Amino acid sequence: MLDGHGLDLSNIPDPSSVEERSSRQANIGQLCGEDSLLIIVNNPEATRSADVEYPYRASSDMLYFVGWERPDAVYCLANTSGELNSILFIPPRDVLKETWTGIRLGLDGAEKQFPIDRAVSIDEMSTVLRTLLDDCTNVFHQRGLLSEVDDIVDKALLETSRTRQRTGSGPANLCDPRPLVSELRLFKSESELELMRHSCKIASAAHIKAMRNASAGMAEFQLQAIIEGCFVYNGSQWSYPSIVGGGDNATILHYVENDSPISDGDLVLIDAGCEISGYASDITRTWPINGKFTKHQAILYQLVLDSQIAAISACKPGESFDAPHNAAKEVMAQGLLDLGIVEGPTLNEAMSPEQLGTYFMHRTSHWLGLDVHDVGVYAPDDEPRLLQQGMVLTIEPGLYFGAWRTDIEIDEKWAGIGIRIEDDVLITIDGHEVLTQDCPKTILELEGIIGVSS
Ligand code: GLY
Ligand code: MN
Ligand code: MN
Repeated sequence: MLDGHGLDLSNIPDPSSVEERSSRQANIGQLCGEDSLLIIVNNPEATRSADVEYPYRASSDMLYFVGWERPDAVYCLANTSGELNSILFIPPRDVLKETWTGIRLGLDGAEKQFPIDRAVSIDEMSTVLRTLLDDCTNVFHQRGLLSEVDDIVDKALLETSRTRQRTGSGPANLCDPRPLVSELRLFKSESELELMRHSCKIASAAHIKAMRNASAGMAEFQLQAIIEGCFVYNGSQWSYPSIVGGGDNATILHYVENDSPISDGDLVLIDAGCEISGYASDITRTWPINGKFTKHQAILYQLVLDSQIAAISACKPGESFDAPHNAAKEVMAQGLLDLGIVEGPTLNEAMSPEQLGTYFMHRTSHWLGLDVHDVGVYAPDDEPRLLQQGMVLTIEPGLYFGAWRTDIEIDEKWAGIGIRIEDDVLITIDGHEVLTQDCPKTILELEGIIGVSS
């Protein structure tokens, strides 16, 4: 059974309510200001090959404000004459097309079930959008997703620049909505957090399932199948392509081939997370495929774990976004100094990109939410921002000793070891909550579970 391994996965939280999405729309409408029009274009479908498409994923902004999950949709929010008005352009009902691709909600159904004032056929978008544009001054639109919308906006701006001189009305400015939208999305509400907790719980169960069913000689894709099978079994899907790398493959940060056998004595690194109602989890665990860390694997693993725990301790309101990264680097550099892997003589020198950066070459954190690398500015005005309640970030230090490296000499005892440990952390009012706490990570816990199917 692809069950929860002791974790209760039965209570699937509801998606954000219509009321909550309405209030998000009210917030963004206020931020865009009077006489504005916000346009959100849903992701286009992507061709995989010939007439086969990739599974569709709506744009995160469309999910956040409207919850509409289907393609060929454009959302508009007009803030004019002191009122907010929302329109969703979508395909109307069409029995012939529905026979092939599924039943559509239609315009009436969309108006009843989604937080919009009006649903309008996508076939009428060019005319209606032009009217909306003519009624506003500031157009908040991210170009590049759908050329049809870009063209309508460009044309309206160009034509109005000529007539505005006389009429004093019409769109004058093209503004980027992303800075405003990302500030809203950066702070998670309780309903969003419930979804993220569930996403983290499913991902934890999937990692545990892989640990329990592991044995030397398995192929990386077999562990991937266990992990992703558990995602699907629990009503979710991956939030990014799973990374399953054994031995030296674990030292490639974004290894996705997952096509090699994992040899007895090797570590395997699994970086895999899922999404529920669009909300991502992002977990990495590294463990020995045969269930027992070698002495040298254990030394480096414990060092990464200590640095990860130090980084998590730095997750509290008022700390800078860089604090967890700096905490991780300090622990790691001191450990590598003690092992003679990096040179000092000072800790500061050991922490430099030339020393520690040779083996730990990525950042410790990124925001997490509707996107795995979620929106939100990390350093407004070039200063790392302060952590605040409601932000969710990952903590994922790693050490990588690729035997394949041609730029450095790696001592044989460390060669082929790649380790990353990644948890998802919510900043709370007085500290933090580790959303992925159900996923084991100490050496003792891991050795007690690998290959021990329950
Ligand atoms: N899974 C990609 C990352 O950890 O950032
Ligand atoms: Mn991550
Ligand atoms: Mn990850």
